[in-house]
Amino acid sequence: MISEQLKRAREYEKEHIMEITKEERPVFHLTGGCGWINDPNGFSCFQGEYHLFYQYHPYSNEWGPMHWGHAKSKDFLTWERLPVALAPDEPYDHHGCFSGSAIELEEGRHLLMYTGVAQDGDSGGTTQVQCLAIGDGISYDKVRHNPIIEADTLPKGSSSVDFRDPKLWKDEDGTFYVVVASVDQERNGQIVLYKSMDLKKWEFCTVLAHSSEELGGIWECPDFFPLEGKQVLIVSPMSMKPDGKEFHTGHSTLAFLGNYDQDNYVYVEESRQTLDSGIDFYAPQTFHTPDGRQVMIAWMQSWPNAKFPPEHRKYFGQMTIPRELQIRNGRLIQNPIREILDHRRNKVLHEKIDINQETITLEGVKGRVLDMTVMIGNGEHLDRFTMEVAKGGGYHTDIHYSPKQGILNLDRSFSGYGYDIVHDRDIHIQPQKGKIKLRLIMDRYSLELFINDGEKVGSLTLFTPQEADQITFEAKGIVQIDVEKYELKF
Ligand code: FRU
Repeated sequence: MISEQLKRAREYEKEHIMEITKEERPVFHLTGGCGWINDPNGFSCFQGEYHLFYQYHPYSNEWGPMHWGHAKSKDFLTWERLPVALAPDEPYDHHGCFSGSAIELEEGRHLLMYTGVAQDGDSGGTTQVQCLAIGDGISYDKVRHNPIIEADTLPKGSSSVDFRDPKLWKDEDGTFYVVVASVDQERNGQIVLYKSMDLKKWEFCTVLAHSSEELGGIWECPDFFPLEGKQVLIVSPMSMKPDGKEFHTGHSTLAFLGNYDQDNYVYVEESRQTLDSGIDFYAPQTFHTPDGRQVMIAWMQSWPNAKFPPEHRKYFGQMTIPRELQIRNGRLIQNPIREILDHRRNKVLHEKIDINQETITLEGVKGRVLDMTVMIGNGEHLDRFTMEVAKGGGYHTDIHYSPKQGILNLDRSFSGYGYDIVHDRDIHIQPQKGKIKLRLIMDRYSLELFINDGEKVGSLTLFTPQEADQITFEAKGIVQIDVEKYELKF
């Protein structure tokens, strides 16, 4: 039996999806059917296909009572839309089905774990509880014994208003574990761990990690997984303090590398870093693919900017390109999913191009759907190198590299996004063997920049008209560059 709320959402989407033309969407970045999307949810493999759900409000370009939209893919890049999976239709979630995760169970069952937001009868406020739904890859039923974890199991003084975003996994011995975002009595973020043998009874294990003032309030959307001998904890803090080099103010994403003593539930942090130094990136989620990759996807947006969807857009929000994670030199590295290589067409190569106090274009180097690598040579006689993309008709988005300062600046002030929001960021970078390698993935409405083979990344959305497809290169001083560019065809 599907509820009225779910039926309505599915019908609404069916009616309105047609209003958005193919050209108004990115080619291979996932968007919602219509309306608004935020966090990726339930990123998982089920029956040999990759499933991705997302926070979804189909009825407008603004956040509203959360549903779970749903899509699946065989290659992480071409997505098949599936019917809306969850709607806020139960007493324990009627204010929204918030973020969560998914795993494959035996016997063809796909398990979703999400946060239900309900009205608290006593205070008139809301409370957050953890819930389950089980399905066959298309339709999902909320289980009878929901909610399965409530805030009264948390350490004393913890908030029942901020208790959300369960990330679930099944251990080799069959035990289910989940990490959940919570807030302690001082309003600091904490990540709590629960376990269960049967998915019904859940036992609180420990507070795995704890925020302090400079690392922000609640740590939303936790993820916790082993990678190459280390244990990675990813969180999305609200209201972080800047530290000048790695972290900027406000909503951010934070990855810890550390060690985990699973027998005693003790996590010891060894290092921390930001995940994406660009403008639009939040709430990443990962999963381990059957072929052994840890793949991450995020909402290519950030909350402060999300309050200003450009006018006349028929939908708002998109996901990043899925990214493969690795550890190199004690840092979490991310690179575009390797399946993108199958879509490279029409290679254009320009080697050893000298730029001397001038602005140049290169034959065949333009476009808005592309995969382009630019090697910037020795910066000894260079004050500033600038690449302008999505350029034309007065629009441009700039990448500036200042070798003496060791700064790469991303600036979309002239991209046509008509609101006074965050438009530029500085990223601290170091040359590798004297060179800087920039790989740009562009897909109509976004630019994702992978620096030095994924050591740092900067993602941003672009609402520039598609006719602005020129690319120019400029040097204040002298520099030599190599450019390898492919169109991406689907
Ligand atoms: C993060 C977040 C989550 C929450 C969801 C609600 O972007 O605030 O903590 O579950 O969005 O849509």
